[in-house]
Amino acid sequence: MGNILIREETLESSYVPPKLPGREKELALLERRFREAAEKGVPQHLLLTGGIGSGKTALARRVADNLSRRSRDSSGGIRTIYVNCWRRGTDRGVLREILKSVGIDLPERGYSVSEMLDVLERGLRREPAHRLIVLDEVSAIVRQETKLVYLLTRGSEVSLGPISLLLIAPEDILPYLDPASRSSFGVSHQMHLPPYDAKALEAILTTRAEVALRRGSVSVGVHRLLAEAAAVRGDARFAIELLLNAARAAETDGHETIDLEDARRARMAFLPGVDEKRLEGLTGTSLYVLLAIARSLRGPKGAVTTENARKAYGALCEQLGEKAASRVTFWRVVKQLEREEWVEIEPASVGRPARLHLGDAPASQLELLLEARRSHTALRKT
Ligand SMILES: Nc1ncnc2c1ncn2[C@@H]1O[C@H](COP(=O)(O)OP(=O)(O)O)[C@@H](O)[C@H]1O
Ligand SMILES: [Mg+2]
Repeated sequence: MGNILIREETLESSYVPPKLPGREKELALLERRFREAAEKGVPQHLLLTGGIGSGKTALARRVADNLSRRSRDSSGGIRTIYVNCWRRGTDRGVLREILKSVGIDLPERGYSVSEMLDVLERGLRREPAHRLIVLDEVSAIVRQETKLVYLLTRGSEVSLGPISLLLIAPEDILPYLDPASRSSFGVSHQMHLPPYDAKALEAILTTRAEVALRRGSVSVGVHRLLAEAAAVRGDARFAIELLLNAARAAETDGHETIDLEDARRARMAFLPGVDEKRLEGLTGTSLYVLLAIARSLRGPKGAVTTENARKAYGALCEQLGEKAASRVTFWRVVKQLEREEWVEIEPASVGRPARLHLGDAPASQLELLLEARRSHTALRKT
């Protein structure tokens, strides 16, 4: 056990990946905007929006890291401050955190916002630079009618020096800001991150697996299966959680590598897939056809041709001493199983026959459940 997840901490959300597949353009654009702002000495405020797991936090942290690293190499430049507002809760909590990042630790009580701003002003003056302040999950303070966003956008006027703001929220929060703050975020000052598609998620999983997992312990097929499952939500966090689960499943079973079975099992843990109640609804032939498909999917295979599934079904019936249904009936049952979301039918394409995938069920678990159900039914019959 423990030979696949060699750097598990890199699958946690605190890890900031060096590369962001699928967000290269956004990364370059944000870096350029803030770098230009620093060079011209004119603050730029930006609102970054997108759904859960669309990479908002990862992108902002990467931008901040890249900008402050680059400015350490060259003179002048930008200093960055990142605060998660949801964790701080209030304007004062957020301000305390900003102060901490310039080396000032104020007690939790006893200071008003304007007193804290005075302290901040002195702190910032010690090390003059253009600041980029990232306020992640900013909705938390916007809901409380924050004054802080307004005060920070007026940084130069209130003698805090040049401050660029990067606000992050799931959706457009500008309508909830005061008109003055809102006007400093024009239309061109918004960036929206669309959900990831399966291809992007696959690239994200592939690059993350390279740091987190033992080399060679996961195949392209596994990445694809998990990426497709997560594409339903377009959520990279979900994709990475699935990978972590699949790796754990493989380690628990003492596998050397993550196989498709482990991946299906991981997916199943998240999606409402097989339960015995659903199985109750299956009648004789459907039960056998599904069991045959599950059996022919055992091992590192993601799909089975309908022809091979039918052969497996024939063999199963023979073994059980049952009469196999006709080819037509078999196909009708497969179609029915697809409508009930037990299996997916991948249509035939040039040079390749139609193939069957098992929905969200790991073949071996489904098989166990089906076996149990079958013997149960058999017992009831007698
Ligand atoms: N383009 C990407 N490349 C690599 N990892 C990514 C990418 N986008 C998101 N992630 C990872 O997915 C997870 C969720 O992303 P996160 O930035 O926290 O999403 P959000 O803040 O939009 O909810 C994190 O572990 C993050 O590192
Ligand atoms: Mg986030």
